[in-house]
Amino acid sequence: MASASASVQQISASAGEERPAVTAMAFVTDAVAQGRVSADLFNMTLGKANIREGSIATALAITEWPRDLDLLVVDLGDAADPIADAAALKTAVPGGCVVIGVGRINDVALYRDLMAVGFNDYLALPLVEGVARRAVERAFEARERGTVTGNVAAAKDARPRTLAVIGSRGGVGATTLAIAVADMLGNRLKEEVVLIDFDLHYGSLMLALDLEAIEALREALDQPDRVDALFIQQVAQKKTEYLYAIGAEEAPTGGFQARPHAAGDFLRSVHRRFRWVVADVPRGNPALQRQVIEASTDILLVTDLSLPGVRDAMRLQQLVHDIAPHVHLHLATSGVIEARRSAVKVADVERTLNCKVDCQIPTDMAAALAAVNLGKPVSGAAPNSGIVKALKPLVATLDSEPGSARSPAGSAGTLMRLARSFKDRKAKK
Ligand SMILES: Nc1ncnc2c1ncn2[C@@H]1O[C@H](COP(=O)(O)OP(=O)(O)OP(=O)(O)O)[C@@H](O)[C@H]1O
Ligand SMILES: [Mg+2]
Repeated sequence: MASASASVQQISASAGEERPAVTAMAFVTDAVAQGRVSADLFNMTLGKANIREGSIATALAITEWPRDLDLLVVDLGDAADPIADAAALKTAVPGGCVVIGVGRINDVALYRDLMAVGFNDYLALPLVEGVARRAVERAFEARERGTVTGNVAAAKDARPRTLAVIGSRGGVGATTLAIAVADMLGNRLKEEVVLIDFDLHYGSLMLALDLEAIEALREALDQPDRVDALFIQQVAQKKTEYLYAIGAEEAPTGGFQARPHAAGDFLRSVHRRFRWVVADVPRGNPALQRQVIEASTDILLVTDLSLPGVRDAMRLQQLVHDIAPHVHLHLATSGVIEARRSAVKVADVERTLNCKVDCQIPTDMAAALAAVNLGKPVSGAAPNSGIVKALKPLVATLDSEPGSARSPAGSAGTLMRLARSFKDRKAKK
């Protein structure tokens, strides 16, 4: 105890001012590391840090975090998927909270992945005296400079972002995911996000949210230069504190030929009011689909686990690569065919498209039905469903700067090999 109070005086002297105490929690498995974290945080928390025995699994079980939490130290323990858990935890804690991971693995790739999902630092065990304190001080300094990853204030100054959600086939769950991602993103950033259904004739987004379709969307796409902030304010319908939506219900008889760059011009106008747009992209209108892809910063490509689904995902991936090589492409598997019953496996999708699947959305009829019945995002109607859990890591990383586009699709030969191996598997059954 004597040494702890000596260190309080030393650090107070070096800090030399009355800073408010830091509100901190820690979940650390190992007793020695717990003692080290406790001693290192003693001064800045005025001895009030809430240090518990546990790991990231314990932290993930917490449903209500203190709103003023400044600092969380969490042991990654023996998490099977530490990055997914870290991303999920980052979405759960208050936006400005500094999160520092500790663990036995000393690996730069793990460190980088943790930084990418918004952790502020990672320290390998065993901890040497002062290491945790210095890491926390560095993270607070970075936060004050506004450079911390996931910092909401910094993010608000960032450039406009459009996430286009595209299903490789009909009914794979693209609209369900577009709505859930927009809702989760808005809640995470505490920022208004607008959903736009670009399927002017058969879009289901407004219906899914129990909102009224408007006639003005077609007009706005025809004459985007006449769209101003007031117009957007009037046509964007509010669903929740952070979620707005725009969608039409054009008569099936009337065709619509978007003039060149209509979607891009319209999105630029929308961005004057909303930094984040999530676009539900139609498959039936290739010209409009192309325009929305070109104007997007991020794309979520959703495929089911079927051979035609993967073939079309591959074609769409190639299209994205050709016309919008700048975008950050995310890949999700979804649909009503359960993964374990499907002919095509997630590994087949990854091999064929030559990129990792970011989200494996489980089939959850109850959650999907609850969302439909309540006219709410699945994240609002069934917040504990596997669908929401699978989306959390994606949502946590979305607001960081978009990276470079993924590598282009595998060749047609890869698809042929996939088709053959699928048929071989069927023959063996
Ligand atoms: N993960 C899921 N588990 C179970 N049902 C789901 C899931 N995702 C979506 N559904 C259901 O599947 C149906 C189609 O979903 P959705 O409209 O989101 O697909 P879509 O790809 O947008 O379809 P479309 O091609 O018509 O635009 C809906 O009834 C929805 O409730
Ligand atoms: Mg849809």
